[in-house]
Parts: sequence; structure tokens; C-alpha cells
Amino acid sequence: MEKKVKRIALLSGGGDCPGLNAVIRTITKTAISKYGWEVIGYVYGYRGLYNNNYIELTEEKVESIYKEGGTILFSSNKDNLFDYLVDDGKGGKVKKDVSDVGVENLKKAGVDVLVVLGGDGTLTSARDFSRKGVNVIGVPKTMDNDLASTDVTYGFMSAMSVGTEFIDRLTTTAKSHHRVICCELMGRDAGWITLYAGLAGNAGVCLIPEIPFTIENVAKAIQKRDEAGLPYTVVAVAEGAKYADGTKVIGKIVEDSPDPIRLGGIAAKVADDLEKVIPNHEVRSVNPGHIIRGGDISAYDRILSIRYGVAAADLINEGKFGNVVTINGDKMGYTSLEEVIGAAKVGQQKHVDPQGELVKAAKAIGISFGDE
Ligand code: F6P
Repeated sequence: MEKKVKRIALLSGGGDCPGLNAVIRTITKTAISKYGWEVIGYVYGYRGLYNNNYIELTEEKVESIYKEGGTILFSSNKDNLFDYLVDDGKGGKVKKDVSDVGVENLKKAGVDVLVVLGGDGTLTSARDFSRKGVNVIGVPKTMDNDLASTDVTYGFMSAMSVGTEFIDRLTTTAKSHHRVICCELMGRDAGWITLYAGLAGNAGVCLIPEIPFTIENVAKAIQKRDEAGLPYTVVAVAEGAKYADGTKVIGKIVEDSPDPIRLGGIAAKVADDLEKVIPNHEVRSVNPGHIIRGGDISAYDRILSIRYGVAAADLINEGKFGNVVTINGDKMGYTSLEEVIGAAKVGQQKHVDPQGELVKAAKAIGISFGDE
């Protein structure tokens, strides 16, 4: 007979995004009040699991974090226990598989189930712990919304609403001064945030990773707007947008990160390149960067986080370990960690379809993607 669950542990890994706290709160409250389990939270993601560093989570502790962005458990996007930097005993560092320490610490803390809130990287480790026999449930997190197995992840709608506000605010100045303003929005490999915010904020041009662009086409679109009596344009640029010749802009290399490339700076390049071909406009750029994923959780994401959290607790109760919670259509469900990670590894993330209905709708109302 299956061992009865008494104690569960949560951890959050990867970049923060709005909704993490709301999911932590929901799982904690459901675990305690519906199922009578104890809940602990490892701090700093898998590093906390390695160092046996955790806090007790109580209803009182989580009650007011339903709308707070970020994560009260803190996060790390560098600490993979299957490839972990440890002292080599000679004054240097070496990478080692220390996952057994994690498994031991779970046993020591009396944890029956580990609930992992994270994206690709964090969930890859979750899959690997599951392969080692740990009872794991994944709750997918990505504000980029590019996870193939689920329709929408918490954090996306919040980020998209903030992106929309940026475009709204920039439009005021663009309109008053007849300027072109390029606004860079996060979204590494997928253009969802830029497409949604671009549509909602009525950007004149949207540049996304899925649709390579040329400066000439963007300039043509701006000129067309000028001729239509709209002598101002906000260009929404995804950080991962690429020129037709394949040019992308890297902002920073984070050496000790498993995924070291950080994008950033493409809006400034697009602005420079544009100013050379549209001398009748002053062209500016802004890169709000992490502001897009900060602040409060949107009302939509608060509810989505409740749904993800309750579904995660219910999966634990049903003993369906090794799975990730999903939402498809209006139905909560689950997919195996193996499948989710397998798809991410072979590059089957969820991308904007350049021929899809949303892009067609945008084009129908005159939004250019710089591709024609
Ligand atoms: O994946 C989420 C995300 O916010 C991306 O949109 C962005 O490229 C990346 O994380 C930034 O990561 P960091 O916070 O490490 O700079």
C-alpha cells in the first residue's frame, strides 16, 4: 500500500515571475486545510535542498502573499544538484552530481513529496529526482508562456499587462512629439508577451523571434503610418527578435549559469538602424528589462495560481507523482515530467505561429511585423 502523505516540501527555481507566491500560498493552504499535511519550503531553490535550508510554511505565513510578485522562498537559476559546483579540496571548485545529498535531506526532513515550481531547467532536475525515486510534482512557471504542454502559465498575463502599460505610456510621448519609440520586452525565444502587449497597446510594429524582420520593412511600415496621418509609432521589440540575416543582440553572459546567454539591447540597435533610414523622425528606445516581471500579480494570474496550486495538491493526494500540472482549454490536467522535458529539449516549445490567427488579426489592423 502507498505510504500516506504527511509532509510536503515546496521549492521555486529559475527566474522569479508574478504568480509564484500565489501558487506557494494556494498549495500551502490546500495542503493544510483540505488534506491536513505539513508544509515546508526550501529556500534558494535546489541550493536550499542541498544545504537542508528550509522554513515551515503555515497558513499565517502565506495568507497575504496572494498578490505579491516574486517568491518568498527565493530562487536560484544556477544550482543544479546533478551538476553542482563544490570545493575540490585543493582550494578550487569542481562540478559534481550531489543529488544524493538532496534525496537524503528530503528523508531527514520527513518529506514525502517535493513540489517544484519552475521552468525548463528547474523541471529538468525535478524529472531527474523523480527518476531517482523521489515523489515529485511540477508546477510550470514561465512568464514567456512557451511551455508546449500547457495553454497558459502563471506570470504571463501579469507581464503582458505591464508590457501593455509600457506601450500605452510611450504612445503618449510618441504621439505628442511625432517620435518613433522602440520598447524592448522580455521573452527569450517566444514572442507571446510582445505580440499580446503589442496588440493590446496598439503598437504600430511588433518584432518577435518567430518572424525575422528587416529595417527597410519596419521603415516602410512607419512611412505608411505617416501617410495615413499617424506620424508616430511605438515599435514593440521582443528581446529575442532577430533580423532577417540572423542578427540577435546579447546583453550579458552569465558564466556560472547553465544557460549563460542573457539577451538585451535589440531595441537600441533597431532604433539606431531606423534613425538612419527615417531622418524625418527622432527615434528613441527604452528597455524596461525586469520591471516587466516585478510588482503585483494581475487578477487573472491570482486566479490561475489558485487553479494550478489546488490541482497540484489534488495530484499529490491522488499519488500521481512524476507529473506537471497543466491547463488546456478550461480544464486542469497533468503531463509527465518526462514528456514536458523531452519536448523542451527537442525545441518543441510553444511558439507564435507566423501564419496563425493572432498574427493575421494584427496584420489586418495594420500592425507590421517587419517581414513584408
Ligand atoms: O524566462 C524568463 C525570462 O524573464 C526571460 O524572458 C528573460 O530572457 C530571462 O528570464 C532573463 O533572465 P535573468 O533574470 O536571469 O536575466
